[in-house]
Amino acid sequence: MRFGLKRHNKRSSTCTQEEARVIREALKNRSIVLVGLMGAGKTAIGRRLADQLNLPFKDADDEIELAAGKTISEIFEENGEQYFRDGEKRVIARLLKDGSTILATGGGAYMDADTRREIQKMGISIWLKANLNTLLERVSRRDNRPLLQTDSPKDVLKSLMEIRYPVYGQADITVNSRNIPHEDILNEIIRAVQKKLGVVPAKRLIGSRGRKRK
Ligand code: S3P
Repeated sequence: MRFGLKRHNKRSSTCTQEEARVIREALKNRSIVLVGLMGAGKTAIGRRLADQLNLPFKDADDEIELAAGKTISEIFEENGEQYFRDGEKRVIARLLKDGSTILATGGGAYMDADTRREIQKMGISIWLKANLNTLLERVSRRDNRPLLQTDSPKDVLKSLMEIRYPVYGQADITVNSRNIPHEDILNEIIRAVQKKLGVVPAKRLIGSRGRKRK
């Protein structure tokens, strides 16, 4: 959940200040909401996206922990998963009303129909889609995910992929989260967001037409 905590000292050139301003303006009060399985990179990419677009970053899991005064593992252990899901739904609904943010959601959040509706109303959803090996490699770095505290995280992830991928597929934008530089993923996200918002800069339109002709 929290990998990629490092802040960037330097702004890379994925998005110009002007492009960021235009995106913020077109979003009005809506947020960009990252969905996808555990290990998809929602937090790591979300922080960088927020940095690029000059928007606040919020991690729903962190906010749930803050509101509950305990960790997600403790909530699952002491109160059960349903209690966690109820809190998750409330927290995300509140965060979506806070004005434009980049919001990283926990992997199960988008499975809730009410939450999906809220996200649809108040944001642009981006599914960070990753394959099993990528997810496995990333989740193995931490042991803070109660659903994966089993003999075979691989089997759990596999069955979650089967159940959840068709639902994640309802997101506005899908980006393949793979092991390439973060800047490249960010670039894909920003171009897709510009397209969705109808604010592709003229020079990029010319650029992409030029590339296609090659
Ligand atoms: C969950 C994903 C976790 C966290 C909780 C449940 C899930 O968030 O919300 O452990 O159901 O997929 P990340 O996707 O940020 O790891």
